[in-house]
Amino acid sequence: MADHTIQFEGAAEPVSVPTGALLSEAARLAGVEILQPCGGQGRCGRCAVQILDGTVRRRSTLRLSPADVEAGYALACQSVVEGDARVYVPPQEKIERRLTTDRTVAEVTVPDWYDPTTRQAIRRVNLTLAPPTMDDQTDDWSRLRRALRQEVGLDEVEASLGTLRGIGTALREGEWQVAAVLDVNRWDCDPCRPILVDLFPGHPPDDTPLWGAAIDIGTTTVTVWLVDLLSGEVRAQVAEYNGQIARGEDVISRIIYAGKSEQNRQEMRSLVLETINTLLETACKRVKAQPGEVYKVTVAGNSTMIHLLLGIPAGSIRLSPFITAVNHVPSSPAHEVGINIHPAASVDCLPGVASYVGADISSGVLSSGMDDSEQITLFLDVGTNGETVLGSSEWLVTCACSAGPAFEGAGVLDGMRATRGAIEEVWVSGETYEPTIRVIGSVKPIGVCGSGLIALLAELFLTGVVDKAGHVNLNLDTPRVREGEHGPEYVIAWADETQTGRDIVITDVDIDNLLRAKAAIYAGFTVLAENVGVPLGLAERVLIGGSFGKYINVEKAVQIGLLPDLPWERFQFLGNTSVRGAYLALLDPALRARVTDIAARMTYIELSADNTFFDAFTSALFLPHTDMLRFPSVEAAITRKE
Ligand code: FES
Repeated sequence: MADHTIQFEGAAEPVSVPTGALLSEAARLAGVEILQPCGGQGRCGRCAVQILDGTVRRRSTLRLSPADVEAGYALACQSVVEGDARVYVPPQEKIERRLTTDRTVAEVTVPDWYDPTTRQAIRRVNLTLAPPTMDDQTDDWSRLRRALRQEVGLDEVEASLGTLRGIGTALREGEWQVAAVLDVNRWDCDPCRPILVDLFPGHPPDDTPLWGAAIDIGTTTVTVWLVDLLSGEVRAQVAEYNGQIARGEDVISRIIYAGKSEQNRQEMRSLVLETINTLLETACKRVKAQPGEVYKVTVAGNSTMIHLLLGIPAGSIRLSPFITAVNHVPSSPAHEVGINIHPAASVDCLPGVASYVGADISSGVLSSGMDDSEQITLFLDVGTNGETVLGSSEWLVTCACSAGPAFEGAGVLDGMRATRGAIEEVWVSGETYEPTIRVIGSVKPIGVCGSGLIALLAELFLTGVVDKAGHVNLNLDTPRVREGEHGPEYVIAWADETQTGRDIVITDVDIDNLLRAKAAIYAGFTVLAENVGVPLGLAERVLIGGSFGKYINVEKAVQIGLLPDLPWERFQFLGNTSVRGAYLALLDPALRARVTDIAARMTYIELSADNTFFDAFTSALFLPHTDMLRFPSVEAAITRKE
């Protein structure tokens, strides 16, 4: 096959690729970053590049206008190289790389039951060994095991080859005074043989921290909590966008991208590992520790994220009958997973239930405590996958619905994530239709984040700017409503008030996307409740998880029909329940075992196989719903306005 030379403008060197290669692949070889938000499916149109010289074969131009094609534009993910070419990559929308700290730092109290000597599996013990002599030629490993038996009562200690390689040096450097780090009580064995994880010279003071980490791999954000296992305290919390975003904004796009080649699968694994390792490094720096001193990691995340982290093919997750390769992953040493902590530290991925109800939900249920409560509880993770769990200590049922990323700002013209410059709260005057906004960071706005979109939609509905079907009323006497480039729209902020110098608007199309997202979530939990014959009104608590969930205004979310119309005191926001559950499992092997029990106990209901889901979804595509009897408080609010 002939090779062709592709020169990307601005790249130091041209690259050589064979006939049939995609331009996106050539770009990667050239070290040119091209974002592929839909995972290279040709759906989003955001990987457009301009062919300056030469030609490429365009497999799809669906997302390009005839004028774009005329001007030489092509989708990098859909363009096949057939000859030499010179390519210009226009500046792409940059992913905001900084999360605002007030949105990612949670308040964490160490559970009052925590006692590292009885609960914690990772222990550090100081040992003083008798040096070998001509009369005692016991080998180093046996000598160490003897000391562990005699000094701390630990029998039958095991070690990996990697750890054994280092013991001789540690013993001699420490002149037979060493500290051993052991994993003494894994959750999945009884009795457990203790494992020697590390041995280093000297005796550190007793209050020297012993580090572990709880990690949540979200589709959008990865969160790391660095924990001192001696006190149970979370000493550093860091979060960053998942590096895989550049290769797909939702799980389906990422599965598709990863499934295209072995190289892509490895790339997805590397991207998330890079995010995790950078976060661990940052967290360690904050507490003046080294990543190599982290001895245990517990990981939660949806099933796709766990598969991609471990390099396990995830293709079957998106294809009927929607099966994961593995729900219960055995613990593996960090060096095998690729996480840069102590190489022999164990990386424990929590178990998931099904393709779309992953370890993030089992972990969330643990942290909510609903599996241990007699109260009937509805647990919602308001995110892209809209996972729901209903139940109590007696029973648990779960489902997931594909809500899409609209509440995370994707698919909404001026939508954005909850970072500095995002409008997070909106009030609209019922008389003048003028909005009042609150912006994260108190700066000029750039766009609207999820909580802002919910508030905006509720306000526009209650003030009559938007009707029940989600259409902007162009007959109102205000310049805020108008026919825009994308159809009817409402202007939230004028160009001179924004950072971008453009009006910030919400359009009919945006509202339609939001209605679809909220309808999917609402339909999910109503169908779940109907399936088990428990009316939603019987839910004594509604727990809302997900880092975004924390900022939802319940009243507004009920007004748009995203949450059920129940007394406010039943709602509780739990923040990032996934990382919280991982933290609890890190502290106590008994709680780790409980996550497995939770995952095994949850009955999964596949909504795509449920005929009633589509009807429930269609009925929920209105503000707040076609059946107003379900929303008495909203009905009353509308009547008051009239
Ligand atoms: S169209 Fe190419 S990445 Fe979406």
